[in-house]
Amino acid sequence: MVKKANLNYLEDILKLIRLGAKRGKVLLRSKAEIGVNIDSFFIYTLNKKVVGCASLEVYNFKLAEVRSLVVDYDYHGQGIGRKLVKRCISVAKRKGILEVLAVTDQDQFFWKAGFRKSLENQYPMFLKLRERGRIEI
Ligand SMILES: CC(C)(COP(=O)(O)OP(=O)(O)OC[C@H]1O[C@@H](n2cnc3c(N)ncnc32)[C@H](O)[C@@H]1OP(=O)(O)O)[C@@H](O)C(=O)NCCC(=O)NCCS
Repeated sequence: MVKKANLNYLEDILKLIRLGAKRGKVLLRSKAEIGVNIDSFFIYTLNKKVVGCASLEVYNFKLAEVRSLVVDYDYHGQGIGRKLVKRCISVAKRKGILEVLAVTDQDQFFWKAGFRKSLENQYPMFLKLRERGRIEI
């Protein structure tokens, strides 16, 4: 089930993010950063084991981002990622946010969750300022 995270789950979330970061799928985040933003995180538990996490980072009334979405590789394909994203979207809707963003190479997964590569005739554009690098934990 999807649950709102709290500090008791910090280590579990960190472990999942490290797993995804190792494969270059999500940005590595420090324990301190996750801790400060714990209210933005959701976890998915199966028999009390934390097998997935995601965060909804709200930038302003217009935009929020689904970040740090990782499902333990042993549990892929069971609808866990979809449920985590669904929760993020429902929170964004409840807050009245206009758009939800995901920066990802999992385009088919996000397509199935309702995301599109453009909004009417508007496209996200990126300017890379520096390499993502690694955060020391
Ligand atoms: C992306 C990720 C979260 C998906 O989690 P998951 O629990 O395996 O996905 P689900 O089982 O909820 O899949 C939902 C749907 O997307 C599809 N899907 C999932 N991953 C897919 C992929 N890589 N390619 C194509 N379709 C995919 C599933 O088949 C399913 O389709 P269905 O509704 O037709 O059955 C998971 O692969 C992951 O942790 N990846 C590493 C981290 C990452 O890339 N995060 C995204 C960065 S924001």
